[in-house]
Amino acid sequence: MSQELAARLREVAERVNVALDALLPRADGPETRLMTALRYSALDGGKRLRPFFTIEVGRMFDADETALMRAAVAIECVHTYSLIHDDLPCMDDDDLRRGRPTLHRQFDEATALLAGDALLTFAFEILADPPTHRDPQMRCLLVSGLARAAGPLGMVAGQAADMEGEHIGSDLIAVTRMNRLKTGALINFSVDAGALIGCASESEKVSLSRYAHDVGLAFQMVDDLLDAEGVVRDTGKAVHKDSARGKVNFVTVLGVDATRERVGMLAAQAKRHLAPFGPRARMLADAVDFVVERRY
Ligand code: IPE
Ligand code: IPE
Ligand code: MG
Ligand code: MG
Ligand code: MG
Repeated sequence: MSQELAARLREVAERVNVALDALLPRADGPETRLMTALRYSALDGGKRLRPFFTIEVGRMFDADETALMRAAVAIECVHTYSLIHDDLPCMDDDDLRRGRPTLHRQFDEATALLAGDALLTFAFEILADPPTHRDPQMRCLLVSGLARAAGPLGMVAGQAADMEGEHIGSDLIAVTRMNRLKTGALINFSVDAGALIGCASESEKVSLSRYAHDVGLAFQMVDDLLDAEGVVRDTGKAVHKDSARGKVNFVTVLGVDATRERVGMLAAQAKRHLAPFGPRARMLADAVDFVVERRY
């Protein structure tokens, strides 16, 4: 990873932590356990790649930093909720996440369910609040964009397909569709939100959306490769679990080598979609290399 990208990712992660810490509600009394759980999952962990995309894309258009950060935090809340629920015993039944016990292991299942619910709904509260953007129309577009990406025709549909295991079919079309939905949709929105807030032109939005499409697919392919070949010390989550659970993923369908080859093709294609932006998109191009080479 380039030193400049490493510094940007670090900067985004630190600022996201500060913003989340300030925005997440605090409460005494019976809700204390829930609030502690929210913070356990939401703060100090993860690559914060989706916030990075929103902020980095928005910066290409000199977009308002507060709007970008609030959108980025909302997206990260939805992402964190998805991980909390993904790890539950009724879904992937995982014990380790971001190098620590999963939320239901550290607390309990009911708390994990509620913490996920809370982060999901809180994301929309953040977006709808006036400090996110002075223009209510823009806030509406952010709310509906995130709802579409995360909802029944987006991430949740992908998670439902994932739970079907082999019943979705063991072919490339089925696995591509599933991964576009479960992972691609939210990554796409994280890029689209930056373009939206930055008032990018229609053709710029299309180029960036195509970039996000390829990065999102490559990202999930690498996640599947890490499940097959990664080590827990790096990933911070269990490995070798997808095939053991009868899941269909790119590696179970294509094998390691062909998956890797496709990651390379998608990465090259993603960078090509950045051509209209010239050197302004250098960090977004470097992020493609990070997505491909990452071990965590
Ligand atoms: C993991 O996402 C779940 C998938 C969508 C593949 P990340 O790899 O972005 O997880 P964190 O946020 O960095 O922990
Ligand atoms: C999770 O996919 C995708 C979402 C949470 C939407 P995985 O189940 O492959 O993610 P990991 O491997 O547990 O992080
Ligand atoms: Mg899963
Ligand atoms: Mg999982
Ligand atoms: Mg996985």
